[in-house]
Amino acid sequence: MHEAIEMQDIAATHDCPMLRTMERKKLIAANWKMNPPPSGWDAPDSPYRPHPSVDVVVCPPFLWLRECIGEELVVGAQCGHPEAKGTHTGCVSMAMLAEEGCAYVICGHSDRRREQKETNADVVAQAKAALKATLIPIVCIGETREERQTGKAKDVVSAQLKDLPEGIVLAYEPVWAISNGDPSTPAATSADAQEMHAFIRSQLPKSAQETTRILYGGSMKPENAAELLAQPDIDGGLVGNASLSPKDFGEIVNIAAKK
Ligand code: PGA
Repeated sequence: MHEAIEMQDIAATHDCPMLRTMERKKLIAANWKMNPPPSGWDAPDSPYRPHPSVDVVVCPPFLWLRECIGEELVVGAQCGHPEAKGTHTGCVSMAMLAEEGCAYVICGHSDRRREQKETNADVVAQAKAALKATLIPIVCIGETREERQTGKAKDVVSAQLKDLPEGIVLAYEPVWAISNGDPSTPAATSADAQEMHAFIRSQLPKSAQETTRILYGGSMKPENAAELLAQPDIDGGLVGNASLSPKDFGEIVNIAAKK
């Protein structure tokens, strides 16, 4: 602990890119979406458990939050309402999630932008409320295929980044690369992903550029994780389909641990 503080102090007072990069510990988050926990998730050697050199986060459906927290996993919710309580049928607030023992919450996943019509302003409100409740928001941004094909990808992510607070984790998830359960969906190439991650980093306030973790999401799997995670601006993954297989998820975590 003492050592970590010293490292941070050194990094803060010296302009040393390597030290600053070291602060961005890799984060691999499992987004189980609307699926029950994969069998074996609570085994003693389960890959969903905390790892010594990678931040492993598991985002189950609401009904399994308590069980996962009880097993001492580091848990994120898949969404949360920005208001603390009130007449919002079917919703759970950020404050309630924090009280339950969640550490993270996904904000603005493209499923919710599409199905629940969440806007950029909604996502900003969620991220702010999450931080206020002491949750770390994992804010998802990313363009659709049509937006990419018409040259709007960077404008779209810039608009999604606008007004977001500091202290969050970002996940660049190009909508066209998300598997939707089809494991044959190609991920973004590591070059395309790196280009967008570097662009996203350049759009952050100076004070947050070196410390903000930017995860990649969209068909990350054992076959492509090494190349994606080797990119200088990719700090981890938000993993959907492959996170439902303990074997595949464990391989991704192990790959991240070597980076
Ligand atoms: P995928 O999902 O890994 O199945 O593409 C990622 C996500 O939507 O978070």
